[in-house]
Amino acid sequence: MTSQQPTGDMTGLPPENTWRRKDLLNTDTLTHQEVELVLETAEAMREVRGRPMNKVATLRGTTVVTLFYEQSTRTRASFEMAGKALGADVINISASGSSVEKGESLIDTVRTLESIGADLVVMRHPEAGAPYLAARHTSASIINGGDGQHAHPTQALLDLFTMRSHIGDVTGKRVVIVGDIRHSRVARSNAWLLMAQGAEVVLCGPRTLLPRTTPGAHEGSGCEMTTDLDAALKGADVVMALRMQKERQQAGLIPSLREYARGYQLNDERVARAKAGALVMHPGPMNAGVEVTTSVANSAVSVIEEQVTNGVAVRMALLYLMSAGGRR
Ligand code: CP
Repeated sequence: MTSQQPTGDMTGLPPENTWRRKDLLNTDTLTHQEVELVLETAEAMREVRGRPMNKVATLRGTTVVTLFYEQSTRTRASFEMAGKALGADVINISASGSSVEKGESLIDTVRTLESIGADLVVMRHPEAGAPYLAARHTSASIINGGDGQHAHPTQALLDLFTMRSHIGDVTGKRVVIVGDIRHSRVARSNAWLLMAQGAEVVLCGPRTLLPRTTPGAHEGSGCEMTTDLDAALKGADVVMALRMQKERQQAGLIPSLREYARGYQLNDERVARAKAGALVMHPGPMNAGVEVTTSVANSAVSVIEEQVTNGVAVRMALLYLMSAGGRR
């Protein structure tokens, strides 16, 4: 990674590297250069966050709206923090308490936000595809902060940034993602991004929580899928656990959280099957003692808190690159 330092206006970035994409909807269409640009810019943003005066005025006059139709702590708070760290005005809107409750459509909502001056809208929605619809009806840039079970691109980018901080280039590295793969937008966006980066991606979980086909399968480059966690962990450089939603038990897809933990929880013994020093990750929110034991979550190889911290730098990079300033 280069060590470009953001200046007051951040013109330190080479002009040929400027971002051209209006929206960020998923990781599957990102080019290698775009991913590198985000990660390099995030590195510079991390340096800004480490300064005693950890704010710049680069996005002064830019308005960022977080529009959340679903609960969030990390994504929403880190985008707010990122916007403020860059000097942007940040407006937070939740579906509850907004005119959405009076029946306003998504299209009318994003057009209204554009009319009040929103430049970037970070959106989370329970329906897959909602940010794509919004992006077609506004000139504001839409950033997908998670849509249904489809995609969560900024989580995947911050996960890759965190991995690279520890293990460098992920080409040829074995990354095991374990849990409710079938319903996980995090797994999908990570799989696309990591495969494009040349990583060996293994998706693991109970049969009822695995998808019928893997991301990339139709292109003949699907990742490995298995129910056998102990075998999957052999030689792993990274293991990422996903949140187990209680609804899956109610839907009869797992017998109980206790049974799930018996087969798929990351404990000391299982982590020892991976390579020495293999990273343990979790996008959060985490169910204490279900997906990962407290001992593993607090161990030296756990980067779970670092993922959250890096989320601010990666989201600063995206806001910067996607703002008019970043795209000029
Ligand atoms: N990882 C993640 O998206 O967390 P939040 O739901 O808290 O935003």
